[in-house]
Amino acid sequence: MKSSKDILIERTKNIFFERYNYHPEVISVSPGRVNIIGEHVDYTDGLSMPVAINKYLCVAISKNNKKTIDVYSENLKESFATKLHDISNHKIWHKYVQGSILESVGDLDYKGGLDLVINSNIPMGKGISSSAALELSIVCSTLKLFDVNSTNEEIIDRCQRVDHKYVGIKSGKLDQSACLLSKRNSVFIIDFLDLSIDYIPVNFEKVSWVLIDSGIRRELASSKYHKRVEECEEALKILIKEDKNLKNFRDISEREYFSIDSLPSKLRRRVVHIISENKRVISMKNAIKNNHFLDIGTILYESHKSLRDNYEVSSKEIDFLIDSSKELDCWYGGRIMGGGFGGSTINLIKEGAEEAYIEFISDLYKKKYNTPCESMIISFVDGVKTIDNIRAN
Ligand code: GLA
Repeated sequence: MKSSKDILIERTKNIFFERYNYHPEVISVSPGRVNIIGEHVDYTDGLSMPVAINKYLCVAISKNNKKTIDVYSENLKESFATKLHDISNHKIWHKYVQGSILESVGDLDYKGGLDLVINSNIPMGKGISSSAALELSIVCSTLKLFDVNSTNEEIIDRCQRVDHKYVGIKSGKLDQSACLLSKRNSVFIIDFLDLSIDYIPVNFEKVSWVLIDSGIRRELASSKYHKRVEECEEALKILIKEDKNLKNFRDISEREYFSIDSLPSKLRRRVVHIISENKRVISMKNAIKNNHFLDIGTILYESHKSLRDNYEVSSKEIDFLIDSSKELDCWYGGRIMGGGFGGSTINLIKEGAEEAYIEFISDLYKKKYNTPCESMIISFVDGVKTIDNIRAN
């Protein structure tokens, strides 16, 4: 039987042919991602444990003989055409697309155009990084199309520059790293100090990972995310004034004697989150290695409390989802996931109890907020895949 990923690829190829009347030269398919632990620490040189999931975005691309970039999104049923360097645009998805192309081949002397089709089964706006999947699949397919070699680090940097320069979000590198570097049957710790990776084989047969979407849209581009980034920068500056040898928050975790008491209360709480979250990533590694599901659950919930109280990125709806889950024995633990301010929770559930858990939570949520919450049982998959020579495939 064909997987949903194969069906998506097949369908994208066909849409491309129907639209442009020839076969695409290259296809890239990128998964979405979740983050098990290590939240809001990627932009402070911290540690995270993200992983790609079985929802995909597919891009088919070819050079054309025109002077324009023609792009069609099957999900939006919209298209646009633009000149490569004309960025006087547009809608936000245009910025993602054009920024990704420019960050891949913008400095090549290419005078022709491109045809693209985008097709995805990653739900948008649910905190599972449909936008990182879009960036990555365009960057990887474009690099392949132009035979440009790029290391993983460079690919991640190219994608991050799309966020920073074109979309205007000062995000870290968590999302793109997950979508690019994940390996099925494992999770990994990424160290954002040097982008080094530590893969950890997993055996999650007796448990399930379930996402619950609060339906409250996160506005990542909104000032709240940037506010946290700025607060961290400010806190670090103050601490460096006191100790010139300090370079980042990781140095603090290593010097147990180091005091952050001089910081104003709000900044101190932000730093407490960063330091404790980095430690939780290490504890999570041990809990996962030993299949200690109760410990995994406890660490998730500790992270939630810190994101709620220290980092203040939760919302009342998300806290309701987590607090209500505590009533069930099948719930090992969970937390708010991703950028926060709404979005989804990630939960570890006893195998076999997924449907009961989802029904219980959905009913409660519906009663309380008069709106349903969507759920997703996820599995972990490999990172982005790029295929050329499509005609021969
Ligand atoms: C968003 C950003 C990431 C990361 C997370 C929080 O997903 O894109 O870079 O900061 O929020 O961990």
